[in-house]
Amino acid sequence: MFPHRHLLQIEGLEPPAIGQMLDLAESYVLLNRSGKTQRDLLRGRTLINLFFEDSTRTRTSFELAGKRLGADVINMSVSSSSVNKGETLLDTAATLNAMHCDLLVVRHGESGAPALLAQKVDAAVINAGDGTHEHPTQALLDALTIRRRKGRLQGLTVAICGDVLHSRVARSNIHLLGAMGSQVRVIGPPTLIPSEAASLGVSVFHDMAKGLAGADVVMMLRLQKERMARGLVPSAREFFRFFGLDAEKLAFAKPDALVMHPGPMNRGVEIDSAVADDPARSVIKEQVEMGVAVRMAVLDTLARAEGRPRVRNAP
Ligand code: NCD
Repeated sequence: MFPHRHLLQIEGLEPPAIGQMLDLAESYVLLNRSGKTQRDLLRGRTLINLFFEDSTRTRTSFELAGKRLGADVINMSVSSSSVNKGETLLDTAATLNAMHCDLLVVRHGESGAPALLAQKVDAAVINAGDGTHEHPTQALLDALTIRRRKGRLQGLTVAICGDVLHSRVARSNIHLLGAMGSQVRVIGPPTLIPSEAASLGVSVFHDMAKGLAGADVVMMLRLQKERMARGLVPSAREFFRFFGLDAEKLAFAKPDALVMHPGPMNRGVEIDSAVADDPARSVIKEQVEMGVAVRMAVLDTLARAEGRPRVRNAP
């Protein structure tokens, strides 16, 4: 039994809880590939996708996951809600609570916003990315992708490269991979590596050749210009020259190293198209497929958690 009501972060999750979620997601990969659905599982449940920040793949992925399990899915984005009219986050929470939704998927520009909502609503809250804090379902889908390809998570060397400073994906992955026994390295210019990196138990590199040496997995991150207050990188061209993943730099990693990216990609900035689209090395499309399965597992698990009412408004 998953011991939490919400999924707000990976930090603090026990390895068995992570393993259990990945195992359930694995079964959803098979279900999705067979073309079947399980629409009775979340029938009568309502899922609200509340997105205060833009998203294409994450929102679509949660929507598809909810629908494949039979939930009623409603998408609310900032532009169509009253947030633009000055309604506070807590007013929004009170409104949503009155609507009796069962599952609330939240993306917000401020770190900690989903945790605040979780204190105010009855629904199970799932963090779909908050500021620079965490993006737990992304780390779970990355872990599932790696585990399926490498057969394990324990004992692997995973290099997370680029704009680590602004990346909630990096933070969630550092916690998850660390908990499951992988060695995590972060590689980037000093301006894009958070000062607390070493205290998170990762090794820090500022040189791709050294950082990628012997890596089993190369995880690239998007250069998040929208979160950069000032120019932390000289130019996209310069960044690509030193930190962009191309065939030449990938050759420093193990010959069978996986190439990953959470998307959306800045082609030619942090990753070269030839590497991103190379079916022999890149598992970027598979990450998207795993995303739906992982979100089905998370929705299923939280909707059925102990103490949560079974079906509201049941006939
Ligand atoms: C990531 C995010 O939003 O944190 N993208 C995603 O979930 N697909 C990474 C990013 O925006 O670069």
